[in-house]
Amino acid sequence: MNVLLIGSGGREHALAWKLAQSPLLGELLIAPGNPGTALLGRNVPVSANDQDLLLEVARNAHIDFVVVGPEAPLVAGLADRFAAAGIAVFGPTAAAAQIEGSKIFAKQVMQEAGVPTAAAHTFSSPADAIAFARLSKRPWVVKADGLAAGKGVIVPTNVTTTVAAIEEIMATSAGQRVLLEELLVGEEVSVLALCDGKHLLPLPPARDHKRLRDGDQGPNTGGMGAFAPAEIDEETFELIVRDLMQPVVDAMAARGTPFRGALYAGVMLTAQGPRILEFNARFGDPETQVILPLINGDLLAALAACAAGDLGNTELPWASSAAACIVLAAAGYPAAPRSGDVIQGLESVTDLGDVLVFHAGTTWESPSIVTAGGRVLCVTGLGATRRTALDHAYEAVELINFAGMQFRRDIGR
Ligand code: AMP
Ligand code: GLY
Repeated sequence: MNVLLIGSGGREHALAWKLAQSPLLGELLIAPGNPGTALLGRNVPVSANDQDLLLEVARNAHIDFVVVGPEAPLVAGLADRFAAAGIAVFGPTAAAAQIEGSKIFAKQVMQEAGVPTAAAHTFSSPADAIAFARLSKRPWVVKADGLAAGKGVIVPTNVTTTVAAIEEIMATSAGQRVLLEELLVGEEVSVLALCDGKHLLPLPPARDHKRLRDGDQGPNTGGMGAFAPAEIDEETFELIVRDLMQPVVDAMAARGTPFRGALYAGVMLTAQGPRILEFNARFGDPETQVILPLINGDLLAALAACAAGDLGNTELPWASSAAACIVLAAAGYPAAPRSGDVIQGLESVTDLGDVLVFHAGTTWESPSIVTAGGRVLCVTGLGATRRTALDHAYEAVELINFAGMQFRRDIGR
């Protein structure tokens, strides 16, 4: 099977790494990919958002199967384009990707399906939203309706900061409509599952670390590190899949827009039980970099089964070990990441066992590899326990360096 993988982040490097282990794989193309994916297949310099050119690449290279990594092309209908051209694709249609593309749509579906989630109110005028927040005399989580590349949510602590958050988010194009959501308290867990439109095949639960600095301080980011499996008992995990995710899968099918792809549930474990914070229509980043190393079995076969609408008896057994990843971010991330800093030490890490270095925002600047994005590298350590996985990851991090490198020292602690 010739495969075209779309995207260029750490998630896509991890997907390429896992797909490359499949006996079903013929040629692997990655568009646009990064210096890490280039070691596993052939990068083609085409943007994930250039639908026409991607289709042309797929036809010319006799691609049998397309795997879409990021959300923006999915919401823009890339999976629909490939499907219409008769090329099998892993990733939801634009209609199904609305579960991530519109937080208001997602909230409606959850309410329809009776899924526990934070109570929320929708506004399309800043004045109305501000009046509501002032009248309520308590803080509200402010969420842009549309895709905002991880910058669409602000969690204020009082009414004044809620008002400021409304003003900030409603000034953006993604925030023309907003949700004001009840503030929930608890530990978070990311539960990802493959979905064929009807059935869910859950993957090991993961824990992301969204804040930039140690002790969960600083601004929200796309994720500064993760570990899997997350600490969550079997009963709660089963409840999340059965009562929080499956009803949404059923509701999407009943609407005539079945969800086929990776369904990502962001869950908060509150004192009242688990609540959905958000759904994503794709694999998480950096969650994928700790989940895929813990999966035994053929990922390509499983993704193809999803795309065909029949997971059937597909199994992806979980390893009993642990994985942890540390994100190395560029100077200035997340506000204004700096590019062009030379990355040192990458070659010394390849000699270590139990470590995988996934590239994210990197590029070649002969003869070096340099920073080219906010999250630059994701260093994944593997081990029998989370502690040893973290030790392996941090040992490797010590060997890598670039000017202004930022990372958290408390992942998994
Ligand atoms: P989201 O993109 O919706 O997952 O939101 C990003 C982050 O904001 C989440 O990972 C949480 O840390 C936080 N967050 C989102 N919704 C809530 C909520 N209702 N209560 C408290 N924190 C939230
Ligand atoms: N790690 C958060 C996300 O992928 O949305």
